[in-house]
Amino acid sequence: MKYFIRTYGCQMNERDSEALGAALEKAGFLPGSEEDSDLLLFNTCSVRDAAERKAKGKIGYIRKLKQKNPNLIIGVTGCMAQRLGEELLKELPHLDFVLGTGQMQRLVPLVNEIAADRRRRVETEPSVEVLESMGDHDAAPSWHGQIAITRGCNRFCSYCIVPYVRGREISRTKGSIITEAKELVAKGVKEIMLLGQNVAAYGLNGDTRPPVSGHSPFAELLEEMNEIPGLLRIRFTSPYVSYFNDRLIDALKNCSKVCHNVHLPLQSGSNRILKAMNRQYTAESYLAKVDEIRAAIPDVTFSTDVIVGFPGEEESDFLMTREVMNKVGFEQAYVFKYSPRPGALSALLADSIPDAVKEERNQILLGDLKERVVQKLKSLKGETVEVLLEGVSARNAARWSGRTSTSFVVHFEPDANCCPGTLRKVRITQVNTVSLFGELHPE
Ligand code: SAH
Ligand code: SF4
Ligand code: F3S
Repeated sequence: MKYFIRTYGCQMNERDSEALGAALEKAGFLPGSEEDSDLLLFNTCSVRDAAERKAKGKIGYIRKLKQKNPNLIIGVTGCMAQRLGEELLKELPHLDFVLGTGQMQRLVPLVNEIAADRRRRVETEPSVEVLESMGDHDAAPSWHGQIAITRGCNRFCSYCIVPYVRGREISRTKGSIITEAKELVAKGVKEIMLLGQNVAAYGLNGDTRPPVSGHSPFAELLEEMNEIPGLLRIRFTSPYVSYFNDRLIDALKNCSKVCHNVHLPLQSGSNRILKAMNRQYTAESYLAKVDEIRAAIPDVTFSTDVIVGFPGEEESDFLMTREVMNKVGFEQAYVFKYSPRPGALSALLADSIPDAVKEERNQILLGDLKERVVQKLKSLKGETVEVLLEGVSARNAARWSGRTSTSFVVHFEPDANCCPGTLRKVRITQVNTVSLFGELHPE
């Protein structure tokens, strides 16, 4: 039997898809395409209405495949599966099963049961079993691997559906994470990204108070990861700003493999809006944290997530977001137009900002970002940087690309020694508005 998985949403979902695919392959399935597979999985996202609509549209569209192959099994997993459950079976008559976020480990037995009796099923009961049983990886991974260190979220930001669809935050044991990391390295992985909705809450046992000064189980995990022979780089996403304490900053500073790039979601620069979002920090404390991290790691770069058009966001609130963003000077920012999510608290408020205003604010922030990034890229001209080689450039097959620890991508002409997943030095010789070009140092 062949399988195909289409993934929507965040890196946690990408990672789940990898684990689902690996579990299927262990059970004898082979990877196929959307057209020739006997099992089609849609691993979905609920974070914004558009994400759900896109997945539903696609699932509706593939109905015709079932007419061609009556044995085809179609399933929905992930956050939309968890949120809508039974409703999806009613809405999509050609759907065979809906498997929730806490039941992903049930995929293989469930598919076998459906193949045997062709009965439709919904399994969305939460379970903690999923935590340690979703550790399978691709048999032959690239130089980059991802490890989920927590599942779920306890923060309940008022706009966000994640705590409802992914359940309470639970952390894996340090031992199982380190074992998984070592297995990845043994398969040739050189860079590992640690994943969680709030990675800095790792090991806090669901306590919703940020860790006290001097205490950070996540920092301890980073330090242990840093000792793994053969691993070259460690990244993580995302830490919640108020959990980013002194102990974690020390770990960042002392662990040579931890990259100098921090994804630090801001969401808004207006304290009034942050409060309405139930984000437990202010614009001032956010900026102070950025300064503290920069003081310890001078070349650190930041990226962020921002929501525009939260209910009641006045022009003045938006301008505060714009100001904070420009003060930090993010190297990358993901700007989202507010989307009310039924079930999340803010959905009780009127979605008061017209879409055109949301769009305008979105464009303004992206315009600022572009301007800042151009300036930053220009300032790198002439510098020699270390990059982890990623392989042939996506847009020009004659070039290779590599990424700096600070997450800048550099393109260059390869030499005979180029191998993905190795560290090389490159001198930046040319800068255009979006890209850096350089010359490889001979080895
Ligand atoms: N746990 C991560 C965020 C996961 S969701 C964190 O807190 O860092 C990714 C991003 O989607 C969020 O940071 C937020 O900017 C955006 N988002 C979440 N809910 C949203 C909504 N209802 N409308 C628009 N954007 C939303
Ligand atoms: Fe959502 Fe907030 Fe949790 Fe991030 S921290 S997943 S935005 S509730
Ligand atoms: Fe979407 Fe679920 Fe991730 S809602 S953003 S796929 S945790």
